[in-house]
Amino acid sequence: MADLTKDEVKLIQDSYRGIKMQQGYLAEAFYRILFRNTPAARELFPEEMSGQLEKFSDMLDFLVNNLSTPWLFTGKIKRLGRRHVNYNAEAEHYELVGEALIQAIEDMAPRTLTDAEIAAWEKAYRGIASMMKDAAYTDAA
Ligand code: HEM
Repeated sequence: MADLTKDEVKLIQDSYRGIKMQQGYLAEAFYRILFRNTPAARELFPEEMSGQLEKFSDMLDFLVNNLSTPWLFTGKIKRLGRRHVNYNAEAEHYELVGEALIQAIEDMAPRTLTDAEIAAWEKAYRGIASMMKDAAYTDAA
């Protein structure tokens, strides 16, 4: 995470603002794509998804807003990663979730995202997913 440049943080925050301004339901689009691409993932989640949509949206807001100060969220993200073990999330799932999230971001953006914007989102996702996985699946806390 610490290796996101200022420019990358700005690309992410500016493109995220565009998505939010549209009142785009990013979380909804994300789960729709995830369950379409990976139907088996559906049964890991509660039947009633509204609470989940809100929690995921809040977490995304929090992370995007704080990307330039990652030390503020390291502990929170490690704990999130460890909770995911109880949700039966496996290390391999993170790739599928990342693909669905980036696809949803591209779909909901009011204009075509640039390659640099997409690359910045991918890098941020990888950083956060690594933090969660390291905390969840390796002994090192
Ligand atoms: C960067 C990646 C991810 C983020 C930011 C994220 C975020 C969240 C958040 C905020 C919650 C709400 C509950 C809590 O805070 O503990 C949650 C729940 C959940 N997530 Fe994730 N998640 C990620 C990756 C994944 C992956 C890879 C899976 C694997 C399929 C997954 C499956 C679930 C499930 C099953 C729940 C709980 C549903 C329940 O309430 O039973 N998540 N996630």
